[in-house]
Amino acid sequence: HRQLDNFPKDFLWGSASAAYQVEGAWQEDGKGVSVWDDFVRIPGKTFKETTGDVAVDHYHRYKEDIALMKEQGLKAYRFSVAWTRIFSEGKGKVNQSGLQFYIDLVDELIRSGIEPVLTIYHWDLPKALQEEYGGWESRKIIEDFTRYAEVLFETFRGKVHYWVSLNEQNIFIQHGYLLGTHPPAVQDMKRMYQANHHANLANASVIKLFHELQMPGKIGPSFAYGPNYSFNCDPNNVLAAEDAEELEANFWMDVYVNGEYPLVAWKYLKDNGLAPETLPEDTQLLKSGKPDFMGMNYYQTNTMAFNPLDGVSLGKQNTTGEKGTSEESGRPGIYKRKENPFVERTNWDWEIDPTGLRIGMRRIASRYRMPILITENGLGEYDTLTDKGTIHDDYRIDYLRQHIQAINEAISDGVTVLGYCTWSYTDLLSWLNGYQKRYGFVYVDQDETQNGTLKRYKKDSYYWYQDVIKSNGEKL
Ligand code: BG6
Repeated sequence: HRQLDNFPKDFLWGSASAAYQVEGAWQEDGKGVSVWDDFVRIPGKTFKETTGDVAVDHYHRYKEDIALMKEQGLKAYRFSVAWTRIFSEGKGKVNQSGLQFYIDLVDELIRSGIEPVLTIYHWDLPKALQEEYGGWESRKIIEDFTRYAEVLFETFRGKVHYWVSLNEQNIFIQHGYLLGTHPPAVQDMKRMYQANHHANLANASVIKLFHELQMPGKIGPSFAYGPNYSFNCDPNNVLAAEDAEELEANFWMDVYVNGEYPLVAWKYLKDNGLAPETLPEDTQLLKSGKPDFMGMNYYQTNTMAFNPLDGVSLGKQNTTGEKGTSEESGRPGIYKRKENPFVERTNWDWEIDPTGLRIGMRRIASRYRMPILITENGLGEYDTLTDKGTIHDDYRIDYLRQHIQAINEAISDGVTVLGYCTWSYTDLLSWLNGYQKRYGFVYVDQDETQNGTLKRYKKDSYYWYQDVIKSNGEKL
């Protein structure tokens, strides 16, 4: 066994959430309607028609939640701001009472010695912008998104030092415009790439502004990275895995860092009539929005094999299965996803692959020479609350232990890592899976009937992570 490096002294042992999944209070204090508030009301879209109307009521219970974080010793808390609380219609006049919620939240975190990590956009687009100009499908989004970010920069300057621009652009764009499983439920590859290009520009514009304002701190996007493996050493399968890496990973991260789409992917889009329309000045904007770190959300890897021209096409779930499916899907003539026979799976069929995290971190660090902030990683499982009010989630402890071990190995390989945010802090709404798929250190009594008491209970993993933090990763 080799000697591993220590975790850095100021390592951010954190945990994460997102506004729509925890806050509730969907119509309070002047909040506007988001595309998710709307989407969950369409019958059949979510598990048992669950909504985030109440979620886990973090909006009213944030003090209680932060007290739990403080007691645990948490160093960083990643949360997202709901755009519709700041601008109910996405733009125009700032809604002060909505903004006040986040001012109070950030102050409470700082008072508790917890570093706030603020995500500007975690999928809850104002419905008004979707209706007015089609949201991400219009270039108008760039200006509105930048203005929204500017308000947050002005408000939290000197208080928030870690910023996430867009959460999982690759996921919200593919689910929203290709698979149709997220709002606006479009299924059109050409439109997807166009919306995605605007998201790239909006992302760059916000990062550029952050740097122009000389904001103290760091900003970066959170990318959902599922590193691609070859099914075996058949050169055709190796090529398929390389193509998947190019079209499903570098396709986003290259643009973030270098301001240019990767060569092979761009040629493929051109040849297939899928390339987005661009303006001559776009490249300059993209290049001027280089992030300070790469946020990495990691859940699983993808195993790829050659897919003949008459082979399978994109499945219901995702091009690469990042959202979990063993069903074969892919791009005809290029690649298809296979089951990896070497790894175990969760009850939601997500692969458990800690080594994939190490591999992904090394790829990012080598290709982009950039520090990494792990902005999400965790296990969604059923949990059982016992009569004694305890939750024995040893499976979650095992999962997190193995992934933290992999991070330690990546650090020892030479990767610079700023911190690790588990997904999630409290249990929360799992977009399409209701409340039964639990991720938190803190159990919340809430279920699909949405009539839970909302009482909080510490799981075994809560105490385990407390020791991890206290020992700076020595005691796993
Ligand atoms: C990430 C998202 O894709 O995965 C989170 O950023 C999400 O918001 C998490 O909850 C887990 O996915 P799911 O579908 O199990 O909730």
